[in-house]
Amino acid sequence: MGLKGRNLLTKLDFRSSRSHRTCLYKCGDACSKPVPNTSKNTYFGDLMDREFTRRSALRTGGAAVVTVGGASFIAACSDGNGLDANSSDASATSSSAADVPTPQGLNFEMVAPNTEDAVTVPNGYSQKVVIRWGDKVVDGAGEWSVDNQNVEDAKRQYGFNNDFAALLPIEGQDNRFLLVSNHEYTTPQQMFRDYDVDNPTEEQVMIEMANHGLSVVEVEGNDKDGSLKPVMGKYNRRIHGHTPFELRGPIVGHELVKTTKDPEGKMVEGTFNNCSGGVTPWGTILSGEENVDQYFAGGEEVKDEKTRDRLKRYGIEDPESQRKWERFEDRWDVRKEPNEPNRFNYVVEINPWDPESTPVKHTALGRFKHEGSNIHVTGDGSVIAYSGDDSRFEYLYKFVSSRKMRSGNTDADRAENMKILDEGTLYVATFNGNSDDFSESGKLPEDGAYDGDGEWKKLVTVKADGSAESHIDGMSAEEVIIYTRLAGDEAGATKMDRPEDVEPHPTTGKVYAALTNNKYRGANREGKDDAPIAEWAPIQENKNGMVLELDDDHTGEKFTWNLLLVCGDPEAAETYFGGFDKSKVSPISCPDNLTFDSFGNLWVSTDGNALESNDGLFAVALEGDARGLTKQFLTVPAGAETCGPLVFEKRVLVNVQHPGEDDEATVENTSSHWPDGGDSLARPATVVAWKDDMGTIGA
Ligand code: FEO
Ligand code: CA
Ligand code: CA
Repeated sequence: MGLKGRNLLTKLDFRSSRSHRTCLYKCGDACSKPVPNTSKNTYFGDLMDREFTRRSALRTGGAAVVTVGGASFIAACSDGNGLDANSSDASATSSSAADVPTPQGLNFEMVAPNTEDAVTVPNGYSQKVVIRWGDKVVDGAGEWSVDNQNVEDAKRQYGFNNDFAALLPIEGQDNRFLLVSNHEYTTPQQMFRDYDVDNPTEEQVMIEMANHGLSVVEVEGNDKDGSLKPVMGKYNRRIHGHTPFELRGPIVGHELVKTTKDPEGKMVEGTFNNCSGGVTPWGTILSGEENVDQYFAGGEEVKDEKTRDRLKRYGIEDPESQRKWERFEDRWDVRKEPNEPNRFNYVVEINPWDPESTPVKHTALGRFKHEGSNIHVTGDGSVIAYSGDDSRFEYLYKFVSSRKMRSGNTDADRAENMKILDEGTLYVATFNGNSDDFSESGKLPEDGAYDGDGEWKKLVTVKADGSAESHIDGMSAEEVIIYTRLAGDEAGATKMDRPEDVEPHPTTGKVYAALTNNKYRGANREGKDDAPIAEWAPIQENKNGMVLELDDDHTGEKFTWNLLLVCGDPEAAETYFGGFDKSKVSPISCPDNLTFDSFGNLWVSTDGNALESNDGLFAVALEGDARGLTKQFLTVPAGAETCGPLVFEKRVLVNVQHPGEDDEATVENTSSHWPDGGDSLARPATVVAWKDDMGTIGA
C-alpha cells in the first residue's frame, strides 16, 4: 500500500520523523521558537505589481512539455511498494512514462519506505560501516567505550554526529582515499551514562567540544568488494572545538570580533555545528557553521539594545544554553563576551593534505547559518560559491570571486587558491514568479511550471587591497559581513523555505538548492510575519520541501529558476516530480543534501521525513523524458538523518547522523542498536554501499 496523502493535512503540528530531541540539540530548538526574520521582505502581494517575463518550463532533451491545469489530479494508487502501479489518472505525466527508458544511474530496484533499525539498500547491493563515533582517527587514541571517554581520546577519535562527507583519492595510491567528515553536534544524553541535563560536568562538556569539528582519515579499499577501512595514515587529523582557526577578511582586527582571549580579533578557537560542505576544485574542504546560536547564553540580558537586537536576529536570546557550556567557558556567555558569536557562522576551509595547516574562516562569504558551500568555476577561472541560510524564511546567497583560480596542483597553487574566497562580491537572491494566476497552495500555474526569474543583489565587495565596500545604505562593509542577515533584509532578499545544500551541477552548471520545509509558510499565525505562499514556495505550511533548479548567469546578476520537485507523497495532488508520472516515483520528504553521479543525475538525501518513513537517499533524473523520475536508493535507521551523500562509479557513501535519537533515548535506554546490533548503544557512522558484482552504481 502506498503512503496515503498525509501531506494533504494542513495541521501545523505535522509529524516529522525528527524527534524534538533532534530539534533541540541540532538546531537549538529553532522549530519551537519565533522566526528571527521579522523583515517585510517579499510577500506575494508585492509581486502582483511587477512585470513578469513569461518563460516556459525548463525542459531539456526534447521532453514533452507538461501542462497541468490545477490541483484536480490525483495519481493512481500504488502497489505494495508504492512504486510500480499503472497510473490511470496521472494527468501530471508527460506522455507514457512506461515508454520512458530508465536513465543510466537509476537502474536499481527502489527501496521501499520503512522504519527499520537498519541501513537498507536495493537488492544486489551491499553496505558496510566505514567508521563510527569513537573509532580511532589519530595515533594515540584510546579504545572507545561509553564508560571510558576522556577529552584527550575524544580529540583523536571520530567525532559525534557526522554530517558532510568528502572522499578524495590519494594520488599515486590505488584504492586509497581521504575521508573527511563534519561532526555537527552532540547529544549528551546518548553519549554519557547518567547524564544530568541540569548539571553537566566540566569533563562531559569538554568531551562534547572535542566531538565537534571535522575528521580527516585515510581509508583503504580492497579488490573483493566496495568496503573501506580506516588506516592510520599521515594525513589523519582531528579538528575540534579548540583547534585554532585564522579569521580572514576585512573584519580581522575589527572591534566587533575582539574578545578577551583574542584582543587582536584574528584567531578563533574551534568550529561548531558544521553541517554540510563542499570540495573545492583545488582539493580543499569547505564546511558550513550552521546553528551556532544554540551554544550561546544570555542574549536577552545584553544591556546594549542594538547588540541585543542583532543577537536576536541570529537566534541568540536564552539566558541559559541547552548544553550549559557557558558555565565552564566565558566565551559562550554573551553577557561576558558579546562579540564571540560574531566569530562563528562562517564558511571554513580546511586543507586536508597538510595536517599541520591552520584552517581558515572566510568571512567575505557572510555570516549566517551556512548549511555548506559549493563552487562553480567559469571558463575564465572566476569562482562562484553558493550557500544557503538554513532557517525558515532565510535567504540564498552567492559569492563571486575577483581572483581567478590557479589551475596548478602544487602546494603553492593550493595556498593561493585558498585566498580566492577572500576577495570578491557577496550577493543575496530575489525571486519573481512568472504566473500572475498563482494564488492557491499546491496548484500548478497554467504555464505548467513553478518558475520565473530572479536577481542577485550586491551586499558587499572585498577588494584586492583588503578594503571593502558596502552596498547597503546605513551599514558598513564590516557590519554587512558580520550581520549578513540584516543586510539581506535591507536588500529586499526573498524569504525561502529553509535553503540547505546549494550545488552547481558539474557539467551543466545549473544550480540546485534543497528547500527542506517550512511549517510557517503562509500559516498566517496571529502577530507573526509569516510570508505567504509564492510561486517559489507554493505549499502552505510546507511539510515536505522542494528542490529548486537555477539557470544562473554565474558571474552576473540574473537567473531563471524552476521547481524540479515539490516533495511529498506522490499520491498527494500538490506534489510535482518535474512532470514525470507520479505513479512511478518514490515518496520523498524534506530534501537536505545534494550530490551528482557520473551520469549527471541528482542525488538527494533527506532530513526529517514527514511521511512516517525513515530518511533516505534518492536518485533524480534531470534530463530527457525521465526528468523528475525519483527513486529511493537507501534508507537509514530509525531516528537518523541521511547526510553527506557521495555517489561514485562504484560506491555510494552516506553519513548516518543521530541514529535512534528520540525524546526519551539515553545511554541506558537506546531505541536504536545500529550499527553494532544486540543491546549496543547507537553510534553515528559513515556507511559505504556498492553493487555486489562491483559494477557501476545504477547502471
Ligand atoms: Fe544541519 Fe541545515 O541541517
Ligand atoms: Ca510558472
Ligand atoms: Ca543539513
